[in-house]
Amino acid sequence: MPNRPALKILLLAGTAEAASLDAALSGDPRFQVTVALAGVTASARPFHGAVRRGGFGGTEGLMAYLRDAGIDLVINATHPFAARMTEQVRAATAALAVPMLRLCRMAWQRPDNAEWSSADDLPHAAALLPPDSVAFLALGQRHLAAFQDHPARLIVRSIDPPPPGLLPAAHWIIGAPGQTVDVEVALLRDLGVTHLVARNSGGAAGWPKIAAATRLELPVIMISRPGGASSEMVTTASNALAWLHQQAARQ
Ligand SMILES: NC(=O)c1ccc[n+]([C@@H]2O[C@H](COP(=O)([O-])OP(=O)(O)OC[C@H]3O[C@@H](n4cnc5c(N)ncnc54)[C@H](OP(=O)(O)O)[C@@H]3O)[C@@H](O)[C@H]2O)c1
Repeated sequence: MPNRPALKILLLAGTAEAASLDAALSGDPRFQVTVALAGVTASARPFHGAVRRGGFGGTEGLMAYLRDAGIDLVINATHPFAARMTEQVRAATAALAVPMLRLCRMAWQRPDNAEWSSADDLPHAAALLPPDSVAFLALGQRHLAAFQDHPARLIVRSIDPPPPGLLPAAHWIIGAPGQTVDVEVALLRDLGVTHLVARNSGGAAGWPKIAAATRLELPVIMISRPGGASSEMVTTASNALAWLHQQAARQ
């Protein structure tokens, strides 16, 4: 049988699942992987595939890239809240009839004993937050605008110090999330937190704070993911790998 050329994959990354898939594909001669990063954060780990940093320039730019690079398959493993990119990927791949798979980890499910309110978006979450609360905002600096004038006592944890003017009255904790539920319980208790506000990003890394709030019986305002589930969607890197193997077998 003649040697087939490797399938060119564009892996839109920025998540742990994308990194796992990149690692699983390394050394497989059936695939040639380009990893695309938004370039908003410094990547903590090296990738096996060739790395491309920065946006493509909207749907048109992405279409031009897919054509010019001769991409055969696209895996959209961007963040569960990357709604803009997800729509652009859907539109560009549909227009060019390039097979595409969304890899998006499972959303967190409310534990039976937890008090969760669902918010549609950030302004809705701000509206649900009582004015006399002490709120821990587990949101990231780019997602705080809706809370700018909120009367609640706000606590924000961030890896980087905030820019001047961003929630100046808030209590800022500069550092990484706690890695265990016990650490997060101690933090929430010491700060007198009454409410936790979070986006339903899913995944293990962000779960300890949610579990801690549940243990302390604190209400959680959970912001739902944008958009609906698509038919071409899997939740694990191994399922995405299986899809790629199927695509290669069809070649
Ligand atoms: N991206 C990350 O590393 C990262 C990490 C942690 C959390 N998040 C969260 O994800 C949510 C969405 O943020 P987002 O800016 O990533 O998505 P987005 O708002 O859907 O995308 C904004 C723009 O960023 C570019 N882009 C996004 N992902 C890309 C990728 N993998 N490769 C190349 N370009 C990419 C695209 O620019 P063009 O239109 O120019 O192509 C896109 O239009 C936010 O809530 C953010 O907090 C993102």
